[in-house]
Amino acid sequence: MLKLEHIRKQFEDKVVLDDINVEIGAGEIVSLLGPSGSGKTTLLNIILGLTRMDQGRIMFQGQDLSNMPMKKRGFNIVFQDYALFPNLNAYDNIVYGLRNKKGSVSQQEVQEYIDFLELQPHLNKRIGELSGGQKQRVALARTLVTKPRILLLDEPLSALDGVIKESIKQRIQSIAREFKLTTIIVTHDPEEALTLSDKILIIDQGQIAQFGTPQEIVHHPSNDFVKQFIIQQLHIKRQNIYNLFGEQYA
Ligand SMILES: Nc1ncnc2c1ncn2[C@@H]1O[C@H](COP(=O)(O)OP(=O)(O)O)[C@@H](O)[C@H]1O
Ligand SMILES: [Mg+2]
Repeated sequence: MLKLEHIRKQFEDKVVLDDINVEIGAGEIVSLLGPSGSGKTTLLNIILGLTRMDQGRIMFQGQDLSNMPMKKRGFNIVFQDYALFPNLNAYDNIVYGLRNKKGSVSQQEVQEYIDFLELQPHLNKRIGELSGGQKQRVALARTLVTKPRILLLDEPLSALDGVIKESIKQRIQSIAREFKLTTIIVTHDPEEALTLSDKILIIDQGQIAQFGTPQEIVHHPSNDFVKQFIIQQLHIKRQNIYNLFGEQYA
């Protein structure tokens, strides 16, 4: 279990995260949902250990990680822009994170992730030759082979559209289920959060507006911000949400 306690972060005089408290269960898929600039990426980077918090505590499986460096935490992230190395081919990108960890992950395990993400035909390609969805799968594989204790994803679907988006979404879900991997996903799109996650943490200007299941959030929005942010989207994408939550939203 991951526990965030009273997390606060300020950039110069701007408070970006204010008293964030949340508990995430093992194997859960949790979305951090909020408009642009609400503090989602900052919170993800704080969990990763890339950004220092000003106040608060991060507990994982009973251990205090607050002052532990990123590498020791054993979490890993897929950055929003994927951050792949353009001068390496897909395979070398995938195994890049293992270069200093010889023997920790077997060739067979690496191959399992490659097969799971159907990357075999693309291994020798340069990053520039890959489509958006293929790049995203390479980025996912590169992160998964390091066997993170928590998988962090920053806007993994926002650069993709249509069928590809749906297929990556399903892959993320099956990764979390198959590998029983706690997964935290940043998104600004309520529909993505509602259809992808077990729980959603809605952030409004650095504060928690609501934390709950998709059902709870749709049926019992905790305040006007949540209502507006979610319901507006529900009207726009009514059919998808109707399929999920039934006739109340027809
Ligand atoms: N390194 C930084 N230095 C100064 N301000 C930052 C930095 N990173 C983020 N911010 C500011 O913090 C706020 C939240 O940013 P961010 O966490 O990236 O939001 P989101 O991911 O929800 O769009 C924004 O106002 C952003 O400009
Ligand atoms: Mg962001």
